[in-house]
Amino acid sequence: MLILGIETSCDETAAAVVEVSREHGIKIKSNIIASQHEIHNRYGGVVPELACRRHIENISPVIKEALNKAGININDIDLFAVTRGPGLIVALLVGLSTAKAIAYVLKKPLIGINHLEGHILSIFLEKPDISFPFISLLVSGGHTELYLVEGFGKYKALGRSRDDAAGEAFDKASKMLKLGYPGGPAIEKAAIGGNPLSINFPRAYMDKDSLDFSFSGVKTALKNYIDGFIPPYSTSVMSLPDISASFQQAVVDVLINKAFLAAKMYNVKTIVIAGGVASNKLLRDSMQKRGIEEGITVYYPSPVLCTDNAAMIACAGHHRFIKDKNGDVFYNMDAEAQMKL
Ligand code: KG4
Ligand code: ZN
Repeated sequence: MLILGIETSCDETAAAVVEVSREHGIKIKSNIIASQHEIHNRYGGVVPELACRRHIENISPVIKEALNKAGININDIDLFAVTRGPGLIVALLVGLSTAKAIAYVLKKPLIGINHLEGHILSIFLEKPDISFPFISLLVSGGHTELYLVEGFGKYKALGRSRDDAAGEAFDKASKMLKLGYPGGPAIEKAAIGGNPLSINFPRAYMDKDSLDFSFSGVKTALKNYIDGFIPPYSTSVMSLPDISASFQQAVVDVLINKAFLAAKMYNVKTIVIAGGVASNKLLRDSMQKRGIEEGITVYYPSPVLCTDNAAMIACAGHHRFIKDKNGDVFYNMDAEAQMKL
């Protein structure tokens, strides 16, 4: 079975072909991503109107490239899977309308996918044998959430950010430090050679057993540090690598501690991280190290499958299609900016 995934929820226009077979399981045949980072960079964040226009320009060439790279024709596709939400509504609509039109003309099934489910299941593209249950730490630009994943389609929400998402905190910190967008990779790069212990930025843990997150405090602390107004940050002059490394460490510490707390509370021996922030090397390495110490196996997808891509949407499409075979295959579905998992 050949599945075409389409993703346009934010600032990446993406299309991918995956093949599912009895002999080889799920296999990525192509994974094309047209990023808009250079357009949004000068604004320090995604401008929806510009994102929408660029998706309209990119969507057809990106789909064509995905088909060419996979060596197939659009008629060979058996199932279309498209991101339906959550995301920027004007961006989502470009992918959804395109997918609807193609699937309708070809009389093929079309399935709407929750972007968050795409991220959670992205690991199955590389590690198809992971067994349930596992804790999913989903860290992206719009979401920082913990789920107990008990099976395909069985997600129990355990905690979430009460304010900024971790990626959003990186993006805002980067803007303050004039490092550009997206902020995560920029801060990660600026942190090289810096001392992560040089500034003790706050870590918000809330209640002892809380699995919620909060990143607005560390963001404000950084602002105060930069502005130099409020003690204890005012006196010392610090380098950009030190500031970036300390900020990165503060965010990563909280993510790790909460993920392992969730594993402990639910007695689960596997943690999977997903979403754009999961491509952060400090997070990946520190999670792995802590996992070894605590006897918990930690998985993370390759960086290209952490940030937004359409292979994860096709993967989720495959699992949803098996699960809801006679149900959730609609041509008349709508995009949902605030879609819940
Ligand atoms: O999953 P994603 O590509 O899009 C959303 O669904 O939001 O995540 C994008 C977010 C951005 O906030 C970006 O700054 C962050 O992921 N990010 C990173 C890294 N790469 C991307 N954060 C920290 N370190 C990275 N290497
Ligand atoms: Zn995403």
